[in-house]
This record gives sequence, structure tokens and C-alpha cells, in this order.
Amino acid sequence: MVDISLFGWLAGPDGRALLARLAAADLRESNTLALLTDLRRDLPPDVAGAALTLARLRQRAADKFSRADALFFTPDALEQASGEAVSGWRARRFAAGGCTRIADLACSVGGDTLALAGLPGVSVVGLDRDALRLHLARANLAAYGRGADLVQADLRDPLPLAGVPAAFFDPARREAGRRVFSVHDYTPPLAVIERWHFRALGVKLSPGVNLDELEPYTRAGAGVEFISHDGDLKEAVLWAGDLGFGGRWASVLAGDGSGATLLPQNIPAPPVDRPRAYLYEPDPAVIRAGLLGELAAELELAMARLDESIAYLTADEAIPSRWARVWPVLDWMPFQLKRLRAALRARGVGRVTVKKRGSAIAPEELIRRLKLDGDGAAAVVVLTRIAGQPGVLICGEPGT
Ligand SMILES: C[S@@+](CC[C@H](N)C(=O)[O-])C[C@H]1O[C@@H](n2cnc3c(N)ncnc32)[C@H](O)[C@@H]1O
Repeated sequence: MVDISLFGWLAGPDGRALLARLAAADLRESNTLALLTDLRRDLPPDVAGAALTLARLRQRAADKFSRADALFFTPDALEQASGEAVSGWRARRFAAGGCTRIADLACSVGGDTLALAGLPGVSVVGLDRDALRLHLARANLAAYGRGADLVQADLRDPLPLAGVPAAFFDPARREAGRRVFSVHDYTPPLAVIERWHFRALGVKLSPGVNLDELEPYTRAGAGVEFISHDGDLKEAVLWAGDLGFGGRWASVLAGDGSGATLLPQNIPAPPVDRPRAYLYEPDPAVIRAGLLGELAAELELAMARLDESIAYLTADEAIPSRWARVWPVLDWMPFQLKRLRAALRARGVGRVTVKKRGSAIAPEELIRRLKLDGDGAAAVVVLTRIAGQPGVLICGEPGT
């Protein structure tokens, strides 16, 4: 485990040279013994272990950071760090709101500090209670050629921040390595924000946050943004003060970090109806923000829902968009194994991918029981509910 003195060595010239050498090595688990044996020829065991761990964390961090190979993490800190696409998206909201001095509260190793400090004309102060994480944040900012004031502080105490009008707060949502679900169990708990008086505040929450728990804040005018990246729902953000407005909205980011927002307009969800020519699976941020009516309006499509409780939509036309994936519906029926098998065979389908929403059937079990021969056409089988009953759709590949 890396501590401050070990980190100091790793960040120095010898450590950097060693990490560069490790970056080019075979770091798979199966090679651990060979790697450690080699490293321990010249280094004490704790240094060798810390170097190998960091080299592996840097590889893993490439998903989140463009300069991962120069950054410093602990395993937990990497797990908790915001990736560049989402942190950049949020940071631009602060910039668009005219914020020029921003506090990053619970900044850890700087996943968000990096993005905020990268905004032109913005100065950043990061606070965390963990001295090692602040050291790593300083090195990470240097790796990007960026700067911020970093201060060790406990957020439960009065904040040492005079004249800082805007803040981003990312409380820990893990306790002893396990996810916690209630905002009351975050570290520090969400209620700590009630002591603060920022003009603009964004708080990162888990994407599955119980919206009832946010009621004290949303009643006072705060809003909730759900953010997905590359089709994965990443987080919810509570925006209060100048950057908030009532309601829930969805921001959908592409792989390259560019994105767009679907805003609430109080449009009712489409009515329930039988499947039409195309099946739409809204992006998870759109679903979580409850914007099915807004999605139909955005696509200018007469859409229907397959079921009151399920977020699959259907329409007569396919309109490709960032807001939903679309599959052509080849057939559909109430769920019955024999009937499904016969329908697949009649179409010459030999391989299926199974998707499901609102069905208890395990995809692997269904594939086994369908006994398809593996040859022939591929299809997508969608297990769901259709107007309150278990149903199944046979779909082509997206875009076919
Ligand atoms: C989820 S991490 C923040 C991750 C960071 N935004 C990033 O992208 O790298 C939460 C941080 O909260 C800090 N923390 C927890 N309780 C705290 C407290 N009472 N005062 C200050 N920091 C605290 C932890 O040390 C940890 O670094």
C-alpha cells in the first residue's frame, strides 16, 4: 500500500523511470511472481509492491483519464475518481454559469479538480481530509500542467473558504469497500450541504439515488441531472443555487465526451400500445430522468410504451438519435417457449442475443432451452411485458 514516503519515491526520478519500465511490461496477474522477483532484486518489497500496484492502476485508469500513465492513485481513489468525460461536462456547466472561483470539496486525488482547473480563467481550491490523497492530487495536477490550492480540511467543520461562491462536492459513497445507497450514509452525509452558503453548488450522487431523499433540496428549487457516458448511466448530480432549476434532466455523453441535454417539459409518457415496427430503448439517463414524453416530442414521433411499468417504447419509424437505441421488430408474441422457438426457426434464426426488462427469465437459461443450432441468421430476443403480460419480441440488429 502506498504511503506518503513511498509515494515521494515513486514520484521522484528513480520511481518515474521504474514506472515507465513497468508500463511496457506484461502486467497480467499471471506474471506477478516473475515481476515481483525481478523488482525485488533492487528494491525493498514494499516499494516493489507499490510500484507494481500503481503501474496496474495506471493501466486501469486509461478508461477514465487521457494521461493515466502519468497519474498517481490508490486503488480506492481510482475507483472513486470521476472520469474526464463526465468531470469535463460538469466543469463546463460551472463555466457556463460564470463561476471563476470554485471549490472542489472532497477532492481526493483530483479527478474533478483536474477538470475544474482546466477551465480557462478559473481558479480552484480543493479540500479533502486525507493527506495522502492531497499529495497525489498535487502530482496529478502537475501531470496535466494545471494548478489548484489544495487544503487539508474536514468538511464537517466550518469551511476555510472565504469568498468562494461556487462548489462541487463529491462525498464518498462507499463504506468499508461496500457501496452505500442512502444519502444519509454518504461520507460526509449529504445533509452537510445545509451548513454551506454557496451561490452555486453541484453534488455528485449515485445514479440510483432515492429521489425522495432529495426532496428537502428539490422542494427548495434544486434540480437533478442524470448523466450517461457511452450508454452507461454514470451519476446523478444535484444542482442547487444559480446552477439549479427545478426538475430532472438527462445529459447523454458520447464516447468522446461531447454531449447534449434533454430538458423536462412536463410531457406525459406515451400511452401503452402493442408493438409497432420499431422498438426503442431510451438511454438510461433519459429513463432515470423520467423523460419518455420529452423523448417522443424530441424525435417528433407518435410513440407508445409497451407497458405501464417498462421503459421500452415503440413507433412506426426508426429515427436514429443519441437518446435511444432502435431495433426493427420482426415479430412479437405473448411469451411461450415453444411458440418462440418455432417463430425463430421459421425465420432461419440460429443465434440470439437476449435483452430483457421486467422479465424474471435468465437469458442463458432461455438460450439453452431454445436449442438453436448456432447456424443461420442472428436475432435479438427481447423479453419484457406487453400491456401487463409477459411478452417477447424478435428484433433485427440495430440499424437493420
Ligand atoms: C468519492 S471521493 C472524491 C473523488 C474525487 N471527486 C475524484 O474525482 O477524484 C470522496 C472523498 O471524500 C473525502 N472525505 C470523506 N469524508 C470527508 C470529510 N469529512 N472531510 C473531508 N473529506 C472527506 C475522502 O477522503 C475522499 O477522498
